[in-house]
Amino acid sequence: MERTLAIIKPDGVARGLVGEIIGRLEREGISIIAMKMIWMTKGQAKAFYKVHAGKPFYEGLTGFMCSGPCVVMVLEGKEVIDTYRELMGATDFKEAAKGTIRHDYATDIEKNVVHGSDGPRSAAFEIAYFFNELEILKR
Ligand code: RTP
Ligand code: MG
Repeated sequence: MERTLAIIKPDGVARGLVGEIIGRLEREGISIIAMKMIWMTKGQAKAFYKVHAGKPFYEGLTGFMCSGPCVVMVLEGKEVIDTYRELMGATDFKEAAKGTIRHDYATDIEKNVVHGSDGPRSAAFEIAYFFNELEILKR
């Protein structure tokens, strides 16, 4: 079993896509083992995306991520990191495969509706960034 961190970004929450995205996770058989709504400060967004510090899109990305509330979730499943990234689709929605969340809903490379950890190391960092162990369901 693997865990990953998912975020429904401010555009997804503002556009009323929370139910749609959670429905896709449930239909895929992915378990949600923690979930909450948060509104990040700029500092919190910058620390979360610190791997991108210095890149040209860092200011825009972190400004966008603190522009409104997000839903953050811990997902669990077999190979869930890759399964969920496949459900999300490519970062640039113009390259995202048909039927993926970003293909269907993203409007911009920045306003791309969802975030997912890109590997086990980033998943461990990102889950611990938002959740303590008491907030995560044990089976
Ligand atoms: P995420 O971390 O949000 O799940 O997205 P990702 O792995 O598919 O993409 P990543 O390379 O980690 O980039 C993080 C987020 O930064 C924004 N971005 N903008 N303007 C640009 O060229 C650019 N490149 C990336 C996107 O919002 C991307 O999701
Ligand atoms: Mg990423």
